[in-house]
Amino acid sequence: MCGIIGLTCIPGSTPDRPSLMVYRGLLRLEYRGYDSAGVASIPTGSSKVVVLKGKGKIIELEKKYGFSKVDGCTIVAHTRWATHGAPTDINAHPHTDCSTTMAIVHNGIIQNYRELRKELVDKGHVFVSETDTEVVPHFIEELYYKYKDIYSAFKKTVEVLEGSYAIALISVVEPDKIFFARKDSPLVLGLGNGFNFVASDIPAFLEYSRKVIVLRDYEVGYITPINVFIEDLRKNRSVGYTHRVRFIEWSIEDASKGGYAHFMIKEIFEQPRALKNTLQGIEGDNSFQKAVEILLDADRIYVTAAGTSYHAGFYYSLLMQELAGTPVVPFIASEHYVYERAASEGDVLIVVSQSGETIDSLMALRAFKERGARVIALSNVIDSAIPRESHLALYTRAGPEIGVAATKTFITQALALAWLAVSYALASGGLSSSEAEGIRGELRDSPRILSELISLVEEKAKMLSEWMSRKSSVYYLSRGIGLPVAMEGALKLKEIAYIHAEAYPAGESKHGPIALVSEGFPVIFVVPTDNYLEKLLLGNVQEMKARGAVAIGVASLKTSLGDQLDYVLPVPRTHWVLTPLTHTLPLQLIAYYTAVARGLDPDKPRNLAKTVTVE
Ligand code: G6P
Repeated sequence: MCGIIGLTCIPGSTPDRPSLMVYRGLLRLEYRGYDSAGVASIPTGSSKVVVLKGKGKIIELEKKYGFSKVDGCTIVAHTRWATHGAPTDINAHPHTDCSTTMAIVHNGIIQNYRELRKELVDKGHVFVSETDTEVVPHFIEELYYKYKDIYSAFKKTVEVLEGSYAIALISVVEPDKIFFARKDSPLVLGLGNGFNFVASDIPAFLEYSRKVIVLRDYEVGYITPINVFIEDLRKNRSVGYTHRVRFIEWSIEDASKGGYAHFMIKEIFEQPRALKNTLQGIEGDNSFQKAVEILLDADRIYVTAAGTSYHAGFYYSLLMQELAGTPVVPFIASEHYVYERAASEGDVLIVVSQSGETIDSLMALRAFKERGARVIALSNVIDSAIPRESHLALYTRAGPEIGVAATKTFITQALALAWLAVSYALASGGLSSSEAEGIRGELRDSPRILSELISLVEEKAKMLSEWMSRKSSVYYLSRGIGLPVAMEGALKLKEIAYIHAEAYPAGESKHGPIALVSEGFPVIFVVPTDNYLEKLLLGNVQEMKARGAVAIGVASLKTSLGDQLDYVLPVPRTHWVLTPLTHTLPLQLIAYYTAVARGLDPDKPRNLAKTVTVE
């Protein structure tokens, strides 16, 4: 939800031209929003900031404006996902003050911008855009008259802002500094030799810096080419940061397409390796065991998340029910206000979030914590807000995921949550030790199972996608443990191929959805190897076929009754607990190849952003 990057450097100290480094970073942040973009810099000796910006994709804007060729060693840039104000040239960031001496880029929402804007207009400030962001440079300009110090004016401005923000500011008054502030929107610093970065996410500067400081809420400060200064706004004192500098192990290849046409297909193919890393993490420390202890002690257990992560959370709730007989309440994070009323001390909330920054999930976490509940996070991003604010953090360790549609992070969430549920069921008596070991053995084997699955299913999924790409509506049906997978398959298809897709419990489909089914209507059945097989294949498949539907099944070839299906996407036969690990990949491939067949870019679905930091 908007990407920001800033670089300040000593002339001649950078491996590439500074504007090129920023431009490359901007391209790596495009997954956060891509309806408009812009760059601001301070050319040496200039008394004005230079701003280039417009509506459109970054590559097109580069051709038009030459972002990568701007002069100067202090540069900020932005790629936008519009909230306040349509995506237009004027609304694109950076925004400036009246005298064009400063420029800011912002991710988040300033909730009190209307009041601030009115106040500033009354004082004579001239606004040119419809954005909430534009109040910030004007407010700083106003306070600068009073404080005669840009950092004080910046800090005082941040203090009056309500809402969420990650901000980077440059000013001709102190031209080698980039001022920053964060609250409820991610911001990280990247440290180099003679240069420093500020950005929304690590991949933005990974090519140039692996030394990272993850900023926390209410932190403000600035970077110079050789220094970092961080303050806690609430305590009004500086913060030591040397112990917070982390070395990032990912290679730049992890954050690059590496020869693949898109990040999404690369990330689908990376799933076996990602699972291996998740397993190493699970078995490498005792945090999963600690989580089990917290859960065993719980009065009630809730699990919450958004989007794909919700499907992983829902899967976990089904597993807990089936393996341990323990009810777990799953809820969509943006609905937290309904569920938090019942929460109390003794309850445990599990928050699943790939990014660790989704604002709805963060709000659910805070609401439950306030009522005394304990919170366990499962995230892919170490030190992000959700794990940091939780009592215990578990990590998937899938590596950076750049494609907007989540793939490897879902599979690794499913593995981690399956491990957690099996360990809980073992400790609570729902599973015997040989049963638990049997399932764990298969979970340990999941990297190999997935490697084989890719070659087993890819061509078949590709062929089916040609046909699917001409359809306008699809159902995904399943029962029990297959249902979160069906939901995930439908979400993937609508997200990136823009085809109407809905998931239903198969038994429910005759209570309405079947009315839409006519000759040639595609229905994808997720067929787990559990007790519901007959109901699904002899009941629901037949009902749909009788109305002309084409029944496609993600099923093990060894599944009895598999010949009831018109088309099978084969998966290996495993314990039913592994259903999301085996059955999701074919659905990811269908969504990907269908999008490609329709001439769409699966990495940049319209209207979506990878991390949603607005409620
Ligand atoms: C956005 C993304 C989804 C993601 C969801 C939750 O909607 O487009 O792919 O599943 O946010 O994100 P999180 O980082 O909390 O898992």
